[in-house]
Amino acid sequence: MRLPGHDNRQQPTDRVTSLSPGLPLYFMYNGRRACRWADTLSARYIRPTSLSKLYGDALLVKLTAEMRRIIEEQKIGYVATVAPDGTPNLSPKGTCLLLDDSHIMFGEIRSPNTVKNIAERPIVEVNFVDIFSRKGVRCKGPARFIRHDDDEFDKLLPPFRIEWGDDLCSLFHGIVVIDIESASNMVSPAYDIGSKEPDLRQRWLKYFSNLQPESSKPARGSDENTI
Ligand SMILES: Cc1cc2nc3c(=O)[nH]c(=O)nc-3n(C[C@H](O)[C@H](O)[C@H](O)COP(=O)(O)O)c2cc1C
Repeated sequence: MRLPGHDNRQQPTDRVTSLSPGLPLYFMYNGRRACRWADTLSARYIRPTSLSKLYGDALLVKLTAEMRRIIEEQKIGYVATVAPDGTPNLSPKGTCLLLDDSHIMFGEIRSPNTVKNIAERPIVEVNFVDIFSRKGVRCKGPARFIRHDDDEFDKLLPPFRIEWGDDLCSLFHGIVVIDIESASNMVSPAYDIGSKEPDLRQRWLKYFSNLQPESSKPARGSDENTI
């Protein structure tokens, strides 16, 4: 079906968006318009929190079990924001956690540019890559920064404390929450030439193990919280 103003090229089948084919047609069309309108508004006029006030969770997608697995296991997300001059700003955030099926959050410790960019242009993309299975997930949507003196901060902090401990969490200036409006899986082109996941896992495990100096091999019981 051709939708006016919509990119009609075929989307990968493993992509989930907030506008699933299960929804009524009128919502697909008007929903897409709403998305573009929301993007424009959120980028130019609306403070990040206003998006969810306007639409609630209507524009959000639910991550699949496989997507959640990758995010939960990898923890480190590469977060892209848009700088004032329109150039990309990308940096790793190792404290990423799933808030629920439609939200990712991370602790802001030392990410001044990400926070500034989100305040002006809240749409972000975050990528997670499993370097062993050579698979990943990419998510996009508006983000908002919750300062450490905000009531919501205290509600969001407990899972971070469990995962990372009090020392690291005491460094948080705030927490960034990303509303996921679209998400898709990524797989390495290695799979296109017939590679199988167990073989890739073995190959890359060996590769990364060999990169470790002898002195950094873990001692028994050395599994402290660290990013
Ligand atoms: C492995 C790794 C994990 C990191 N995790 C976080 C994090 O969870 N939160 C944070 O604020 N900074 C984290 N950082 C630091 C930021 O990525 C870094 O300070 C970056 O320059 C911030 O850039 P920005 O101001 O453009 O966001 C991490 C860096 C690395 C290398």
